[in-house]
Amino acid sequence: MTPSPIRPIVPAAYDAVSRSLHWSMAALIVVAFALGLTVDLFPKSWDHALVETHKVIGTAILLLLFARFGWRLTHRAPPPEEGPALLALTARAGHAALYLAMLIVPVLGLVYAVRRGQGLDFGLFALPQLQAAEPRAVTRPIRTWHEWAAYALIALACLHAVAACWHHFIRKDGVLRRMLPDSSRASL
Ligand code: HEM
Ligand code: HEM
Repeated sequence: MTPSPIRPIVPAAYDAVSRSLHWSMAALIVVAFALGLTVDLFPKSWDHALVETHKVIGTAILLLLFARFGWRLTHRAPPPEEGPALLALTARAGHAALYLAMLIVPVLGLVYAVRRGQGLDFGLFALPQLQAAEPRAVTRPIRTWHEWAAYALIALACLHAVAACWHHFIRKDGVLRRMLPDSSRASL
């Protein structure tokens, strides 16, 4: 009898860790973005608390991204749905762009904060400033890049969400379902 070939197990859906990281990071990104944009709308006395909250959430996004990279590289994702090769290629390019934007935005935020002479206040503990504040004329462009990279991240995420809805409601395939909890997958 010939031994049966060992076939790698290809998952039908994202595992629970990937799904939790995906949805918690998506929520944190929306909150960080909204906080970053609306700081000036609140009373001046709230500035410190709001900006520190923004920085802590932003730093959490960066740390979660490293965990997500690690998990993604060591665990298989479901294969692309049947369809034209161009569709799979577009999805891959979109995901790569999202990962890149999720890296660039918080890194630019951190660089800006450090060069403005800011520490990080986590409430229970704080990280001290690393250097004296550089003049605003020098740091202003970094803040502008941070802001525009954040707009690009949100624009990509909106396109990505529209694509997920197109798959689910128009193409009626399983792409959205495999990013949802096991319990809701059967009923959708
Ligand atoms: C995905 C994560 C992040 C997003 C989506 C985001 C988004 C934004 C946005 C839209 C602004 C407003 C820009 C402006 O009005 O000039 C902003 C400002 C800012 N961000 Fe972020 N950011 C993120 C992560 C971070 C991180 C990790 C840090 C630093 C630890 C940071 C530090 C700052 C600072 C210091 C400001 C200026 C706030 C002020 O003084 O009004 N951000 N961010
Ligand atoms: C800030 C918001 C979001 C970001 C940064 C984001 C990022 C990503 C990334 C990087 C992937 C690829 C996962 C991998 O294979 O490693 C992914 C997959 C996925 N996302 Fe999002 N996402 C966001 C919001 C959403 C929303 C709102 C929806 C649904 C409406 C959604 C639905 C999906 C689905 C269905 C997949 C699986 C795609 C596939 O298997 O081809 N995402 N997301």
